[in-house]
Amino acid sequence: MCGIAGYVGPKGAESILTVALERLKYRGYDSAGLCIVNDGDLLLRRAAGRLRELEHELADHPISGNCGIAHTRWATHGAPTSENAHPHKDGDNTVAVVHNGIIENHEQLRRALEADGAVFNSDTDTEVIPHLLARAYQGDPVAAVREILPKLEGSYAFAAVFADQPGRIVAARHGSPLLLGRGKGESLIASDIPALLPHAHEYCPMEDGWVVDCTGQRIVVCSADGTPVEAEFKPIEVEITEVSMGDYDSFMAKEIAEQPEILQRLLDSRLRNGDLVEPDLGIDLKTINHVVFLACGTSWHAAMLGKRFLEHYARVHVEVDISSEYRYRNPVASGDTLVVPISQSGETADTLAGLRLARSMFMPVVSLVNVMDSTIARESDGVLPLMAGPEIGVASTKAYTAQIMALYLFALQVARAKGRLDQERLNAAILALKAIPEQVTETLALCEEVVEHTADLFAPASASVFLGRGGEHVTALEGALKLKEIAYVFATGYAAGEFKHGPIALVTQHLPLVCLCPRDAMHDKMLSNIQEVRARSGRVVGVGAPDDQALADLCDFVFPVVQPQEELLQPLLTILPLQRYAYHVARKRDCDVDQPRNLAKSVTVE
Ligand code: F6R
Repeated sequence: MCGIAGYVGPKGAESILTVALERLKYRGYDSAGLCIVNDGDLLLRRAAGRLRELEHELADHPISGNCGIAHTRWATHGAPTSENAHPHKDGDNTVAVVHNGIIENHEQLRRALEADGAVFNSDTDTEVIPHLLARAYQGDPVAAVREILPKLEGSYAFAAVFADQPGRIVAARHGSPLLLGRGKGESLIASDIPALLPHAHEYCPMEDGWVVDCTGQRIVVCSADGTPVEAEFKPIEVEITEVSMGDYDSFMAKEIAEQPEILQRLLDSRLRNGDLVEPDLGIDLKTINHVVFLACGTSWHAAMLGKRFLEHYARVHVEVDISSEYRYRNPVASGDTLVVPISQSGETADTLAGLRLARSMFMPVVSLVNVMDSTIARESDGVLPLMAGPEIGVASTKAYTAQIMALYLFALQVARAKGRLDQERLNAAILALKAIPEQVTETLALCEEVVEHTADLFAPASASVFLGRGGEHVTALEGALKLKEIAYVFATGYAAGEFKHGPIALVTQHLPLVCLCPRDAMHDKMLSNIQEVRARSGRVVGVGAPDDQALADLCDFVFPVVQPQEELLQPLLTILPLQRYAYHVARKRDCDVDQPRNLAKSVTVE
């Protein structure tokens, strides 16, 4: 939530930081700004709205220099106005600051600072930081940062530039992500790796409590008490093409199309010579009798499928918890419970808090994450990587299908460790998995025409209902989430068996219903549910086998999907037309699919 970036080196900071913001805008995009240190001055440009507003501002009022900081915002405290956009400065133009996180005691600090004569120009929590820094500053920026840290409560990653310190950026982290990047004679900081490209060749994720002093020539790290810290830098392996849109019109379209390749890569890493490769998770899976999944949003939907896989293969008890609920309950801890946070970003604040709660009760933690340098990955006993590459579109698509596959592989691993998976069932599961990438390609091609046509027709509808049973109930929830978040259509998913217990009252000829009805054990029950909807004049879009005549006879349209060799994997395929449907409806409704209103990709605040 919010993206920050900084550059110091021989090149023009303004253009480098604008590109960095472009790569970070998935973290928030309601306003943006940057500050360049030039000739003893702090040159500030900020604008409300999308990044292009800041670009216009920069074109109208250019600034230049070799050192600066930048920010793209997802508003927490204060409306998305240019006054509330970062960077924020103190009244004497001493220091400018960009911040990601929430300073929870900002009101108390603000009152004390105002009593001391500070004049605030924004409604943000962040603005206390430059005022505190200006008061602490005696010519040594690192000393000033270290002095104010004990006063800040909450979470932060912030970076500061000082008017009389050209060529120097100072940063600190506590609870919000920040990476350091090193290039040839240039240093960068950013909330995520893509924003370091192509200038940095090596990177190092900052740890909580670090204070960093960057010039073009060196990056010096110390702890909050001043003890020197040896930062370990690793080569950046992300390719620039992975963070560019290529020939696609949006990252969402690109990421949907990438799914076969990503799933193949994940499988290649986990299958060798027809057998399962079992990553060392740092715990003895044999002893596990109880699994608790923690996740939010789309990752929570994947967790629900994980429960089905584990119950089926490993016969262990599984709970699926929404992270923001789990963290405030008083969950029962037991020695044979494994906690499994699932998170694309690895930075979601509630999931991280749930993980920390579990660890405080001495429960082992194995996480499924896409971003391997993330805090959740680092704080887990074991990690199962999703290997989906950078997901930039705000709506999660490729990470979701990678999560489903990774969870299926995890269930096989637990089942085998517990001696509950014979070779024959394992072989059948592996065979089914191997066919998936090709089946994803086939399904995407097969459904596209009818999906686009249906989206054309139903785009004006202001509401939609998704129905499914078993694993397809999960697809219904995920399909509805995709439609509401990027097309702003009120959409809701139900377990089809529940529909007649109230929600069926919603059905009219104006309500499109998307009914998940592949040829699985629930097929005939779903057909009966569809009959009930038809009898009340509902408009039905079926999702099912291309040759299912009974389904076709009942529906206005059918999104065809390939049937996998293993029924449990069907949701990995049925979600595909629904991702494309949400994309097309959003485009017909003129919505920005990559940056839907009010959202941010990584929810790093509570
Ligand atoms: C929906 C979406 C969100 C995320 C949720 C969790 O398309 O992207 O619902 O799934 O914010 O994020 P992660 O997986 O990063 O913890």
